[in-house]
Amino acid sequence: RKKEPLRIMISGAPASGKGTQCELITQKYGLVHIAAGDLLRAEIAAGSENGKQAKEYMDKGKLVPNEIVVTMVKERLNGPDSREKGWLLDGYPRSSSQAIALEEFGFQPDLFILLEVPEEILVERVVGRRLDPITGKIYHLKYSPPETEEIASRVTQRFDDTEEKVKLRLQTHHQNVEAILLMYEDITVKVNGIGSKQEVFAQIDGALTQLLEQKQEKLGTV
Ligand code: AP5
Repeated sequence: RKKEPLRIMISGAPASGKGTQCELITQKYGLVHIAAGDLLRAEIAAGSENGKQAKEYMDKGKLVPNEIVVTMVKERLNGPDSREKGWLLDGYPRSSSQAIALEEFGFQPDLFILLEVPEEILVERVVGRRLDPITGKIYHLKYSPPETEEIASRVTQRFDDTEEKVKLRLQTHHQNVEAILLMYEDITVKVNGIGSKQEVFAQIDGALTQLLEQKQEKLGTV
């Protein structure tokens, strides 16, 4: 039976748990995870001109200009793997102009997931976050500590994960989120982002299962 790939967007404030949920979603649904922030950090690590420019904005918690971000995301969405397996777009769009650009390129999501987490929790999540540079896995010193001593000794912290910088990132988020929500109103599912990561995932899993069933039904009737 023909399978229609899923096209999902996930959004939410800094440290609301997007990356963590994306790990769980891709494990179960096999979608291609495309994270705007990860693509930008890869450019920085590669020392490219785009990376150098992007870092200046990221340091201030501001949106990196569309000239850099839009093409980068579009290329990944156009990749053969994304077309075949479906995609999970994380941290894009962050403004209505980014959403419009995507629409113009013909990319239409099936579902827009918004993770809702109160601000006081976000700051604690940010300062405790650690990343494994080898596996890319996301940890938290208190909520999701590294499994072994070896991993614990090699985890790193992101350059924008300070209390001061997360406040700037939050400001940028608040300035833009309403306009984006308006554009995706019909396909938005709001998820309570408090609770364990499994509890949060259970809500997303429910929405995705339902969506898959709807898609299959539609295919069956054509
Ligand atoms: P980006 O990398 O996307 O950062 P962000 O949006 O601030 O989100 P984070 O990655 O910080 O958090 P997350 O929601 O993935 O949370 P996580 O799962 O890690 O963007 C960085 C910068 O790049 C931006 O500021 C901007 O400058 C630029 N940029 C990116 N996209 C752009 C775009 N489209 N246009 C222009 N510029 C762009 O979780 C956080 C912590 O909490 C972890 O430690 C985790 O273990 C823990 N945690 C997660 N879930 C739970 C839970 N349920 N309970 C307890 N702890 C939890």
